[in-house]
Amino acid sequence: MTQYLADSTRHPHASDQPVAATDWWRDAVIYQVYPRSFADGNGDGMGDIPGVRERLPYLRDLGVDAVWLSPFYASPQADAGYDVADYRAIDPMFGTLHDADGLIRDAHRLGLRIIVDLVPNHSSDQHEWFKQALREGPGSPLRQRYHFRPGKGENGELPPNDWESIFGGPSWTRTEDGEWYLHLFAPEQPDFNWEHPAVQDEFRSILRFWLDMGVDGFRIDVAHGLVKADGLPDIGAHEQLKLLGNDVLPFFDQDGVHEVYRSWRRILDEYDGERIAVAEAWTPTVERTANYVRADELHQAFNFQYLGTKWDATELREVIDRSLDAMRPVAAPTTWVLSNHDVVRHATRLSGDENSYDPHRARAASLLMLALPGSAYVYQGEELGLPEVTDLPDEVRQDPAFFRAAGQDGFRDGCRVPIPWTAEGSSYGFGSGGSWLPQPASWAGLSVEAQTADPASTLELYRAALRLRRELPGLGAGESVQWQDAPEGVLVFRRPGFVCTVNTTGAPVTLPAPGTVLLSSAPVEVTADGVVLPSDTTVWWAV
Ligand code: NOJ
Repeated sequence: MTQYLADSTRHPHASDQPVAATDWWRDAVIYQVYPRSFADGNGDGMGDIPGVRERLPYLRDLGVDAVWLSPFYASPQADAGYDVADYRAIDPMFGTLHDADGLIRDAHRLGLRIIVDLVPNHSSDQHEWFKQALREGPGSPLRQRYHFRPGKGENGELPPNDWESIFGGPSWTRTEDGEWYLHLFAPEQPDFNWEHPAVQDEFRSILRFWLDMGVDGFRIDVAHGLVKADGLPDIGAHEQLKLLGNDVLPFFDQDGVHEVYRSWRRILDEYDGERIAVAEAWTPTVERTANYVRADELHQAFNFQYLGTKWDATELREVIDRSLDAMRPVAAPTTWVLSNHDVVRHATRLSGDENSYDPHRARAASLLMLALPGSAYVYQGEELGLPEVTDLPDEVRQDPAFFRAAGQDGFRDGCRVPIPWTAEGSSYGFGSGGSWLPQPASWAGLSVEAQTADPASTLELYRAALRLRRELPGLGAGESVQWQDAPEGVLVFRRPGFVCTVNTTGAPVTLPAPGTVLLSSAPVEVTADGVVLPSDTTVWWAV
């Protein structure tokens, strides 16, 4: 590998200041920390910011560019922190503002950037504004910062419209004084009214608060939901969740959201160090996702179409091309993501059976993702090849969607189980006081300790892949891949100086060897006749 020069712009110099601007986000690998499940610094069984701080060197050595933390703000935790009561305070279970400041400084010293989660679609029902709104009663201007409405029916006993909550059930809850309020998620998460200037001003101020703290960017929760269609019209259909991702609904992906992001982009651009924002926007098509990353809006948007694609060569090739084609006109990087805290971990999901686990396929999928041009997101524990935990007892579950059983994904706790650091000890090194969700015994063998220095491990595969992404000029950069002829079920694409081969068939395939093996998700045999690619294997080649 000595022929490749290390790219020194990727891990910027240590400093207390936001690290230097280099278009860093265009090909960044961004690691998602789910704070309650990453590392527990104070031994209460719940992960926290001091735990994350201690483990930052692990993330630097893994080779990621930035760390995105799911919410750590003051919150009653009705939806694991996505119900924020105070956007400028840290929940005591995660630490203090002083800890957050220390985290940002430590990260910058290690050359890592920090992205925080911003939750603008809704607050907690314990947010001061919502409590005031309830206290003031119907007709009060303080209610206008949320969506309060009288009900339908003779005595207002029916919800104001037919919208269903993403977590199941109606998206309206009736208050004691008879009015109803809108919540696209749980009743403890009332939706803000983004037509209201006070809401707009408040979020501009919250952005500045965290930018002044030194964060390098924001992940925008439900970025597609802020603006609702005028008059909150009925949808006229049941099982509306089935429409998600296929249709533009009156509460999702309304064109008005883009004005919000234009105003946020102006703020981000006022700060040095290229601060970014990434949209969590579930839209019907990648083309609509591209609207969120026009030059004067946000920087990135999650590519959920890619996440939702099966392990099938034709479908993968199509979604890769479509994603790259959609982003080219707006000159934004494509992003790639396989797992996060809301979906079944890809080691389980891609096996095609929710109760089985296919680490080989997961490794192949990860190497494919990391070979694509653009920015990639890695969810904590995927570098260990962790499976979804599918047998959690009901009494330990905390996901609100589970309790509102009709929800689309009542099983999000299974991807949120605290990750194993050591092969032995309390909660496998997660902390000294157990773990808020039980970890399977088999995770001892998947711990960071067990995998470190084992060249066959998934952890070492990720470390090697991320090192190569840094060393190979251009891997991660660019806007397209050049597809090469390949047998059915096999993908072969070329990037400058590089070829990636992926076998998605259930059987070994023999191909001409395109060059020298750089990295492989499974052992491969190269002979004078070519290379035998085992089933579910990705290989990176230098050419
Ligand atoms: C998306 C977040 O990722 C998810 O965890 C949360 O439940 C909803 N938004 C509501 O905030």
